[in-house]
Amino acid sequence: MAYLKAEDLDVSFLDDPISSDSFRENKKIELNYKVLIVDDEKDVHTITDMALDGLDFGNFGLELLHAYSEREAKRILLQHDDIAVILLDVVMETERSGIEVVSFIRDELKNYDIQIILRTGQPGVAPEEEIIRNYEINDYKTKTELTVEKLYTTIFSAIRNYRNILAIKNQKVGLEMVLNASKSLFKYRSLQDFLNGILVQFNTLITNTTHSMLINEDYPKEKNGFVIADKGNRLIVFAATGEYEKYIGKEVNTISDIDSEVLELINRHHEEDFVKFTDEYLLAYHKGIMNNRNYFYIHYNNADFNLDLVNVFLTNVLTALDNLVANNIHMLNQKNLIFALGEIVEKRDLNTSKHTKRVSKIAAEIAKWAKLPDEMIKSIELSTSLHDIGKIAVSDSILNKKGKLTPEEFEIIKKHTEINFELFSVLDQELRAIAYNISRHHHEKWNGQGYPDGLKGEEIPIEARIVAIADVFDALTHKRPYKEPWSFEDAMDYLEQQKGIQFDPTLIDHVIENKDKIRAILLRYNEGD
Ligand code: C2E
Ligand code: SIN
Ligand code: FE
Repeated sequence: MAYLKAEDLDVSFLDDPISSDSFRENKKIELNYKVLIVDDEKDVHTITDMALDGLDFGNFGLELLHAYSEREAKRILLQHDDIAVILLDVVMETERSGIEVVSFIRDELKNYDIQIILRTGQPGVAPEEEIIRNYEINDYKTKTELTVEKLYTTIFSAIRNYRNILAIKNQKVGLEMVLNASKSLFKYRSLQDFLNGILVQFNTLITNTTHSMLINEDYPKEKNGFVIADKGNRLIVFAATGEYEKYIGKEVNTISDIDSEVLELINRHHEEDFVKFTDEYLLAYHKGIMNNRNYFYIHYNNADFNLDLVNVFLTNVLTALDNLVANNIHMLNQKNLIFALGEIVEKRDLNTSKHTKRVSKIAAEIAKWAKLPDEMIKSIELSTSLHDIGKIAVSDSILNKKGKLTPEEFEIIKKHTEINFELFSVLDQELRAIAYNISRHHHEKWNGQGYPDGLKGEEIPIEARIVAIADVFDALTHKRPYKEPWSFEDAMDYLEQQKGIQFDPTLIDHVIENKDKIRAILLRYNEGD
């Protein structure tokens, strides 16, 4: 078996760039916290406005909302789900209006974020302890108690509470996003989709965590990046977004609009994985299990994103990448093994040099027309190379006999389908079943007159029904020691004539409908045959 090199891996996606125009131009976050003042006395509003207006809250501002009744308060609460603090009078329409608003917030809106500060002129009416205990009120003040200074500290700490609650919530949302993003990484089957996916996931991650984190003042303005992997001993841009798209497929050293420090880092030899964060970019390096080198580069401006989340994501990226590379190698080993086995068969059966390849291609086409899942189509194409593996056991004199076989000789030939399931034990389970079905059943006939098991109709596994058509069609159109080639049209006529007798009628319909594609495969894989 050929020695496996990293460049053999499935990285043939250079002509399939992805773009990221979904990332919009961002605007500055307005860090205004909404404070709702609820009181039936107009003077209270005026005084509160004046007091709060004169206060400096540093890096955030206040947006004041006003309600003069329980009703109006509820209406505003329904319109704004992002109110940070409510300064709430108790006695308005009724003696319990304030309490009604509180219960509306907590019980009906299920809003446990908003900070509620009860203000009352008649402390006797609303028993402090009971209210605070039952309604999760954050503070309770009498009106005379709320001097300008008290108002400042009360509002400030309420907003800080609100902000912390949101941050914890967002942290949770962020973590969930990271987990989802990571999960989706594991669904990629090819290295190609994976590398493309990383950049997209990464950008949404940074964008979304930043958006939802009120703590950050700026969105990242540019969210461009690329993925680099080595192909042979060259470092190539495999996937890129934004302004780096033009470098897809090019060598890393051709990138001009990048910090020279980054290029140096990329070109330097690294033993250990690393992640480097600066104010402007993130560069992650991973050395794969094949000693292959992978880099992710993301450029941003002032992305004050959550490093913990990004780190969790990167860890998952690297794990998924290792899985994928290992899987690629495993698949490649299987492919090599299958081709090596297929070759052995072909060398014995001198007249079928390109036969296997053509039959595999035709079978894959028919599988496509039959709308089988992509994975299965791949497995069929791969294991069709093994359909005549059993011929290893048939002697040359019979296999390459110039004339017609005697009945005894044909009985021996028929044994080539009765192969041992164990022969395929090195293959993955799914591939093993398909390879086995194809080898054993490719000479079964729709009417039950085939061999070795005399299966009938849909009892015959679909992969075997497919290969039966491809195999016979190719045998007919090519020379055998015992027969001359038939014309394309004669062979097609034979298939049509055997529809429902030897072959699955539905599959034959697909073949007839697409005969030009079969002709193209024959032309393409005929040279040298
Ligand atoms: P193969 O030559 O690759 O043919 C595969 C299948 O194509 C055959 O399966 C048969 O269904 C179809 N086929 C091939 N040539 C003709 C033909 O001239 N007319 C028709 N109607 N169908 C044809 P089958 O018959 O089960 O044979 C399996 C394998 O046994 C053949 O593979 C070939 O290796 C061998 N074989 C069959 N007949 C003869 C023969 O008369 N002489 C020799 N030397 N080998 C034969
Ligand atoms: C082949 O020679 O590959 C096709 C015939 C057979 O399956 O025996
Ligand atoms: Fe066969």
